[in-house]
Amino acid sequence: MTIFIPEDKVLEIKNAADIVEIVSENVLLKKTGKNYVGLCPFHTEKTPSFTVSPQKQIFYCFGCAAGGNIFSFSMKRDGIPFPEAARILAAQYGVHIPAQNMSIGQEQRRSEREDLLVVNRHAMDFFHKKLLDSPSGKRAVSYLEKRGINNETIETFGLGYAPEGWNNIVDLFLRKKISLDVVEKAGLIVKKEKRSNFYDRFRNRIIFPIFNLNNHLIGFGGRVMNDEKPKYLNSPETPIYNKRRSLYGLHLAKQKCRENKTVYIVEGYFDLLTLYQNGIQNSVATLGTSLTPEHVQILRSLIGTDGSVILVFDSDDAGMKAALRSIGIFLNAGIDARIMVLPSGHDPDSYILEFGQESFLDLAKKAQGLMSFLINVSIDKHGLSVEGKIRVLSEVREALVSIDDSVARSLYIKDFSERIGIEETAVLEKVRELSFRSRGSTQRKNFSDNDPVPKHNRAGSAEEDKGNTFHGKWARLEWQVVSMMLQFPPILSEIGNRDILDYFEDNRLKAIGQLLLSQKDRSNINLVDVINLIKDKGQKSIVASMAIVENEWDYDGCLNILARFESIRSKKEKTLINKIKEAEENNDFELLVKLLKKKQKMAVLVEKKKMALLK
Ligand code: CTP
Ligand code: MN
Repeated sequence: MTIFIPEDKVLEIKNAADIVEIVSENVLLKKTGKNYVGLCPFHTEKTPSFTVSPQKQIFYCFGCAAGGNIFSFSMKRDGIPFPEAARILAAQYGVHIPAQNMSIGQEQRRSEREDLLVVNRHAMDFFHKKLLDSPSGKRAVSYLEKRGINNETIETFGLGYAPEGWNNIVDLFLRKKISLDVVEKAGLIVKKEKRSNFYDRFRNRIIFPIFNLNNHLIGFGGRVMNDEKPKYLNSPETPIYNKRRSLYGLHLAKQKCRENKTVYIVEGYFDLLTLYQNGIQNSVATLGTSLTPEHVQILRSLIGTDGSVILVFDSDDAGMKAALRSIGIFLNAGIDARIMVLPSGHDPDSYILEFGQESFLDLAKKAQGLMSFLINVSIDKHGLSVEGKIRVLSEVREALVSIDDSVARSLYIKDFSERIGIEETAVLEKVRELSFRSRGSTQRKNFSDNDPVPKHNRAGSAEEDKGNTFHGKWARLEWQVVSMMLQFPPILSEIGNRDILDYFEDNRLKAIGQLLLSQKDRSNINLVDVINLIKDKGQKSIVASMAIVENEWDYDGCLNILARFESIRSKKEKTLINKIKEAEENNDFELLVKLLKKKQKMAVLVEKKKMALLK
């Protein structure tokens, strides 16, 4: 169940909030003319097509057609429904929404996501208190001290301690009268097999709270303080914790990442804490998973396309492999990624503790590009004998194939063939072979008849495919009509009187037009309000796409377009009649039926018009 946000509160939030500020939390924006542009946070792109208009308080991406106002942005970014987005923005801009009173009854009615966030907060407070003022917490504090973590860092990251015992968290939430099913959903407790009661997931561990970019507490990591296994235990995936998108330390790093246009990526919690404590605060850590395209997209929107990523993975084999796997992701995101090689046996944490921050930064300056790193590692491993070269080639070509950009790929191929002294054409041949094979297999996957993937999942649904591009003379004309209705309201009555919308073929454009005509106060149409009124996502984004382009309309210009609209329409009618004759002559009944139906539709419109004139 959702809570209703009163209209006046929605207005108050709109007046207080600023779209540029909100978007800037996730996207590095640059001013160009009246608007701001940046890299779209909703799809992967190399050139900025995400546009924000501070005047109109809307955003629109020319690449993926996402668009809307502050509420749509927050909903899409966090995957949350409107009331929740409104409440978060309200809190951010100091707008008081009375429905937020937290009686138990109301607490239960709030959306699941919010419930989970609240549960996590309670748990974090509990763990933190246990660390600082329980006798058993003392051992945890001294473990942290031993690892070089100071009190300030403990506070900054909200570190905690999960005491020994199976029921600490269970009891905590029983006392708070919060449903244990919700606590289980948050991943904090686990249901006993074949029984209905629960036990704590985290026991006798140091606790690392994990936040997202917007400071929401989404999950936890926990480390043992001895050699027990598993060394680390993390929250499971929950409705608010998605590992593919989460990075430890992101919420504290984001500002520094923007300033430095550089981000360090490490693998572990302690690596991150040590870097941060030593002043290298533009750092994040992956959380026991390999780096995903989603991670890279999030980071790229902070550092920009000209920013750079420095991978600081363990020099062990697993760390190397992780780095190599991520080559394709970075190249395809158009991000400069380099890898920093630590002396063997070190991870970032141990290196800084032993050699200090300055030495670390010196080493960072020597970080190599990922591709040349891969080539070097491979040559070191296999040598440059004939057999060695063949192995190197087969190892490197996988990475070469994963580069989508053909210019970048051929540059790398040229470079690589020179390095190992093989004809460029021979390398090219090998790469083509592999890329042909992999492309062929994806094609088979997409088009075979017994493909288990449902049709609408293959390449986006048909409706999505249509996007916001309107091909063809007629479709573009319909688009123009609606966009002038939006930007030049004086023309609305003309459009209503001439029943222009009745002849529309695109139902989305028609619906938007009808909505505009139905506005009570036609002289005072506000874009943000229109976007709010529209429920359909596709239509919302069409409106945003129209609103973001600046057109200077005047009355005569509009009338010209309407005249064209009507002349093409009557031509269409004539063509239709000719086609009908033709179909009759050819005895093509199927086509005939189709055409007649179309004609009938037109006739109904004409009839309607006559009736209106008679009235
Ligand atoms: N990790 C995990 N689960 C494990 C082991 C590791 O999620 N069972 C993740 C954690 O995020 C951890 C990171 O991988 O911080 C690095 O693990 P590891 O290389 O084992 O870290 P160490 O440096 O050995 O850990 P520490 O410094 O805490 O001893
Ligand atoms: Mn370590």
